[in-house]
Amino acid sequence: MSQFTIQDGVLHAEGVSLSAIAERFGTPTYVYSKAALLENFNAYHDACQGRDALVCYAMKANSNLAVLDLLARQGAGFDIVSGGELLRVIAAGGDPGKTIFSGVGKTVEEMQLALEKGILCFNVESIPELHRLNEVAGKLGMRAPVSLRVNPNVDAKTHPYIATGLKANKFGVAFDDALDTYRSAAALPNLDVVGIDCHIGSQLLDDAPLLEALDKLIELIDTLHGEGIHIHHLDMGGGIGVDYGVAGDKPAVPVGDYLTRVFARVDAWRAEKHEGRPIKVIFEPGRSIVADTGVLLTKIEYLKPGVEKNFCIVDAAMNDLMRPALYEAWMDVQQVTARAGEAVTYDVVGPVCESGDWLARERALTAQPGDLLAIMTAGAYGMTMASNYNTRGRAAEIIVDGEEAHLVRRRETPAELFALETVLK
Ligand code: LLP
Repeated sequence: MSQFTIQDGVLHAEGVSLSAIAERFGTPTYVYSKAALLENFNAYHDACQGRDALVCYAMKANSNLAVLDLLARQGAGFDIVSGGELLRVIAAGGDPGKTIFSGVGKTVEEMQLALEKGILCFNVESIPELHRLNEVAGKLGMRAPVSLRVNPNVDAKTHPYIATGLKANKFGVAFDDALDTYRSAAALPNLDVVGIDCHIGSQLLDDAPLLEALDKLIELIDTLHGEGIHIHHLDMGGGIGVDYGVAGDKPAVPVGDYLTRVFARVDAWRAEKHEGRPIKVIFEPGRSIVADTGVLLTKIEYLKPGVEKNFCIVDAAMNDLMRPALYEAWMDVQQVTARAGEAVTYDVVGPVCESGDWLARERALTAQPGDLLAIMTAGAYGMTMASNYNTRGRAAEIIVDGEEAHLVRRRETPAELFALETVLK
């Protein structure tokens, strides 16, 4: 159920109107719903009840400490891709022992930090990374828990920038090389081979490619078992896509159904071929936990009619929300307060000095300067991808809980943006 509804003609997050939030905290501002966050997490958590399974929230989607804290309190683990993200997990009270470390470029320092903090597993993506990790663990007198990210060469049928499971992608170990890579890993003295993982892409609207990838991983686990390499966990990577409100872009499967199908296959295989041996199943969802929990609230500065196009110039820009500029992503735009009058078609653009600075194209609006717009489904890969381009401070972040709006990140001031810089003497 959406927690963003129109009440008395005004768009609300739970019980708080977005116009009240704009008045109190200014714009542009990210507004998240706590209820939506818990509901989305619980769709995964509930489907895992009574199973040996762990949901490791991919915090790259939204890493605000308040979001992490709420999820940690629900029992979430975390999927991280940097030492910085690990420090965030710890700062938010998350458990490193439920944290997995993904990514193709882990540095020595990041490996050391993760080992010292006792993370659950390193998702390793190459042979050189295995050697580096073996060396780092050896120097610390430790053994590093390792899973190999296998690239099952499955077409995720998503945007090329976020498809990751094809041979042409930089990610993972090719399926055909996986056995040899596992042998190398098992031969290294300071590594414990514990898992297998994949992540074939993001914003997948159908679970068929994910289940195809699962079948390939299962096949590999059996082969490895025959070689005396025993896999204790199977990590399915990111979650299901979300509904951005655009025709033809609706996820075909609810999260619970996807997980049920994964567990059904795993159970059938364990009973038939795996001699009932236990295996933990891990999921790394990001987008489907946070996307529809948030909107980007922005104010209209100017309406600028043009010869070929009309522009609605708002105070949010590509530096606040990169998805349209980077992927030509379609994001729904809603007027916070409805207005009578004839709708005019606008491109909604920001003040940044790039033609690529647009948030939405060809939207019919009756809005006037000073009115508020909400860019919907912006809770994932919104604030985490924001930059300070054009010396623009990043937006404030609010979490609404019922009738209360909590500031969970204050707006950056311009002075803070150059506080780390010095001029030459
Ligand atoms: N695990 C790994 C190893 C990943 O690389 C990702 C996302 C996830 C999990 C989470 O996937 P999700 O459940 O969110 O689909 N900035 C892009 C999305 C980039 C996804 C990167 N990896 C966007 O705004 O669409």
